[in-house]
Amino acid sequence: MSELVRLGDGGTEVVIDVATGAPTIVHWGAPLGAGAELSTLMSALSRPVVPGGVDTIAPIPVVPEYGSGFTGRPGLTGRRAQGRAWAPRFVPVDHHLSDGTLTVDSVDETAGLALRVTIVLDDVLRVRATVENTADRRYSLDGLTITLPLAEQAGELLSFQGRWSREFQSVRREWSSGSILIENRRGRTSHEYPSLLFGGHRGFDEWQGEVWGAHVAWSGNHTMFAERLPDGRRYLQGGELLHPGEVVLDPGESYTTPELVAVHSSTGLTDATQGFHRSLRARPTHPATLRPVLLNTWEAVYFDHDTDKLKALADAAADLGIERFVLDDGWFGSRRDDTKGLGDWWVSDNVYPDGLKPLISHVTSLGMEFGIWVEPEMVNPDSDVFRAHPDWALITQGYEPVLGRQQLVLDLGNPEAFEFILGHLDALLRDHDISYVKWDMNRDHIHGSNQAGAAGTHGQTLALYRLLDELRDRHPDVEIESCASGGGRIDHEILWRTERVWTSDCNDALERQTIQRGASMLIPPELMGAHIGPTRSHTTGRTQTLSFRAATALFGHLGVEWNVTKLTDEERIALRAVIAMHKEHRELLHSGDVVRFDTDPAYNAHGVYAPDRSKGIVSFAQLTSAPSQTPPPLRLPGLDPDARYRVVHLAIPFETWGAARVQPAWLHDGVDLTGRQLAAHGVQPPTLHPESAVLFELTRLG
Ligand code: DGJ
Repeated sequence: MSELVRLGDGGTEVVIDVATGAPTIVHWGAPLGAGAELSTLMSALSRPVVPGGVDTIAPIPVVPEYGSGFTGRPGLTGRRAQGRAWAPRFVPVDHHLSDGTLTVDSVDETAGLALRVTIVLDDVLRVRATVENTADRRYSLDGLTITLPLAEQAGELLSFQGRWSREFQSVRREWSSGSILIENRRGRTSHEYPSLLFGGHRGFDEWQGEVWGAHVAWSGNHTMFAERLPDGRRYLQGGELLHPGEVVLDPGESYTTPELVAVHSSTGLTDATQGFHRSLRARPTHPATLRPVLLNTWEAVYFDHDTDKLKALADAAADLGIERFVLDDGWFGSRRDDTKGLGDWWVSDNVYPDGLKPLISHVTSLGMEFGIWVEPEMVNPDSDVFRAHPDWALITQGYEPVLGRQQLVLDLGNPEAFEFILGHLDALLRDHDISYVKWDMNRDHIHGSNQAGAAGTHGQTLALYRLLDELRDRHPDVEIESCASGGGRIDHEILWRTERVWTSDCNDALERQTIQRGASMLIPPELMGAHIGPTRSHTTGRTQTLSFRAATALFGHLGVEWNVTKLTDEERIALRAVIAMHKEHRELLHSGDVVRFDTDPAYNAHGVYAPDRSKGIVSFAQLTSAPSQTPPPLRLPGLDPDARYRVVHLAIPFETWGAARVQPAWLHDGVDLTGRQLAAHGVQPPTLHPESAVLFELTRLG
């Protein structure tokens, strides 16, 4: 007999049956309305028992049980000695709803396990589970994941893949049967396997079709899985990926999953992904101040640190209107290149004989904040700290360690190593006027064991969170950026502790158009670091106009990563104007609802609308040469249909378009159209060259 609990946030409703072993989500979709008789719905949906199967139909609860007859991928796997307790079956014992959180407790007395599931529906659906070992013997946990049901009509999947310098590439696929599995063993959220997966009605796009999406909010290893069972039912599953023996529960101990953060919309992907943004914007730590335009020294000087040159760079930056100066890798220990010095977190005497203070006061006297780069989780074997403490590395004794960028991971689960790093970072922040930390992490975990010799990624991830939390406690006003060779650690859990991500090491605007579009499905623009790099991209060798680089970076948390002491006069004038333009619009750019539009793949169209739909800014970029000489009109759905809008071309300094004898006339003076007209017909963009963009500004009239 079902016992149903309803959770609703206005736009989405979730109905949970708390009478199954673990709770089962029986509805996750549009609100069912006040008159809905849920028990009738349940009986309308009861499934036939068919030949060739068992006599009861196992539900698909949040933690599905093989022990109850579920033959998909179980939610809880583990065992005791001799392989016992390997397939538990839970019985619900209690549930309560308080402050919008539904908590359901279940037990399996035979296996000696207790399970607690919590479900919250606010801007997103958040689900976690905890398993506790209630017996008097150890329980070795292989995995505890969260499962959400998808409608049988969800016949298409959207997942993401990538690599260094090419993060968040979307992959769309037909999903008529079978399963897909995404497994990340890189020890950080990874460039390769972003933990983000959507399922939707066939043909769903940015503005149409019912869509469901989920993200594992975790910065270590993860697994995501979606299966269509042979009986037609579909589900999506996500959680931490545990190495063998990585979590062993002694009597009384428990393990809690990362939060599975999930979104739903009946009207396409743009609306669904705004849920992820609202959720991050609701964090108490979400930046409340205007995002300062920053200059990062990396692609400007790399390891060529010299106080005078850096002061000159700061002068040029301040003159452009930059507000934060971030000193990247190379300021400490023997770190003159990327082969040595990591872990020696003291200012290099050779490069900074008078310390960092002269540079910092120079920067702050120019009215800019000072930020600094660190990579606290790493050591180079060629470093003083590693020579003194070779046992602090997260390696597996007895094997030659696998290096990555000539470095090893420091075992933060080792209390001495943890205290060492905490002490040095704390002193760095205490002794200097530093407002911002770029926290980098430049290698995967490979074959890393903790001090007991067991797999160490789970412990390392928790220790990283502790380290960040402790520093935040001691230095609450210092903002932190999450960087991992670019976008290798972008997830909602790290973002509870950080104020920005470095989206990608790739500053090539063409690549960035795609990377940022993908990342915008998980994070809002004010958290997304986007830099104007050098004219010739360091990662791809492509050369792009400043206006295209600017149009691309303007939509994120803007930065410049370019040696601005070497600009031509025209570049300086243009860059100064671009920065001013960003400042003029950043309040809207960083608080608006992110909208993406469906176009031919030769283009990328996106923007932001003010939440009250009073204004908006839209970018239309031509990425490659297109099938038609003239782009099709750009339809702009999602505005107030009955309001009139003035649409004008928002010029980027020194922008160039493509070859047309006459460009569309409306671009000169703007045009007034209703939201309904903009959705149905849109506006005609100019003819553009590949790798160029045009911006439009929308203002509601009257
Ligand atoms: C990787 C980062 O993504 C870069 O921006 C830069 O900080 C380098 N590391 C420095 O080593």
